[in-house]
Amino acid sequence: MKTTISHIKADIGSLPGHTVVYEPVVNAVDKYIKENGESLISDYHISHIGDDIQITMVHKMGADNPEIHELAWNAFKAGTEVAKEAGLYGAGQDLLKDAFSGNIKGMGPGVAELEITPRKAEPFIVYMMDKTEPGAFNYPIYKMFGDPFNTPGLVIDPNMHMGFKFEVWDIYNGKKVIMSLPEDTYDLLALIGSKGKYVIKRVFTKETHSKLPDENVAVITTDKLSFIAGEYVGKDDPAGIVRIQSGLPASGEALEPFANSYLVSGWMRGSFNGPIMPVGLNNSMMTRFDGPPRVAAMGFVLKDGKLHGPVDMFNDVAFDFARTEALQMANYIRKMGVFEPHRLPDEDMEYTALPRILEKLAPRFKNIEDKGAKSEMKLER
Ligand code: F6R
Ligand code: MG
Ligand code: MG
Repeated sequence: MKTTISHIKADIGSLPGHTVVYEPVVNAVDKYIKENGESLISDYHISHIGDDIQITMVHKMGADNPEIHELAWNAFKAGTEVAKEAGLYGAGQDLLKDAFSGNIKGMGPGVAELEITPRKAEPFIVYMMDKTEPGAFNYPIYKMFGDPFNTPGLVIDPNMHMGFKFEVWDIYNGKKVIMSLPEDTYDLLALIGSKGKYVIKRVFTKETHSKLPDENVAVITTDKLSFIAGEYVGKDDPAGIVRIQSGLPASGEALEPFANSYLVSGWMRGSFNGPIMPVGLNNSMMTRFDGPPRVAAMGFVLKDGKLHGPVDMFNDVAFDFARTEALQMANYIRKMGVFEPHRLPDEDMEYTALPRILEKLAPRFKNIEDKGAKSEMKLER
């Protein structure tokens, strides 16, 4: 029988402003799951990064199960009560709807669910990012499952030499495509380099995988990016689950993409490119310029429905260089103020005063009379 790992996360209020979760709120979420989850889930773990509370649950009810989703929704509601009493900033902010209606997707929280056939030993890593968007996972997930310079297992382990299948979502048009690596590598990269438009949703093994054929081995939250009322609704701090070892990326291959910092969209006001910084769980509060965007990783093993762990994977000197590099990158790019490419292009910004500024300036805009200038501009376009 299949086992499901459901990871559901939400920002329901923080201290003092989008910096860090408030312990009594986290405790209220934990208490609700403990008191109400017993008949539904076999185990769970509550964690957090920045202003987001994260619930990892294990159960037999399958993905998209209304009772599991409702359990998480009600736990976030219980946390929101405490957040409101404390007057926290952004109390309940990700709970976009008033009443639960069968599936938590499209209601605000982020959801990543893996339905798996558990192996004898089932190790996996849960990654949590704050102050960035789901496309921030494109680069590391590609490296883990597609790049032999990151994952030598793709070359030297016969159990993974056949490659993997990637499910990519076009979030502007509500379409998905399955791409098979290594055959489709260049086509995949052509898409996922546009991290605000195409996002990796899942990775599967191939039918020819010798140990675990046709299984879902990685999943990323993409929820606010799905279409609610036909609209693109903006960024959402993402989380992901990656199964590891034995014909899948080794633990170290699943961490290696974070050994160097890379640029992601989000950071201050969801409107800037900035370096992602791998951190231990005790360093997961958002400070400088509301960041820098961070990623934490929790290593678990699952046995008979029970979770063992987590191991705080980036809480190690091996990632000191990446942290220093991220801070150097932050110093460098922050000097650019509101100029691109530090600031995002206007269509990708979470906040923009541009329409109002353009409206105000409209009467002051005049046609360019210089004919030469006009044709030059046309040529450039
Ligand atoms: C970005 C984020 C923060 C807020 C910023 C301003 O995702 O959560 O950077 O955007 O703190 O918040 P408001 O506009 O609520 O004052
Ligand atoms: Mg927030
Ligand atoms: Mg957040």
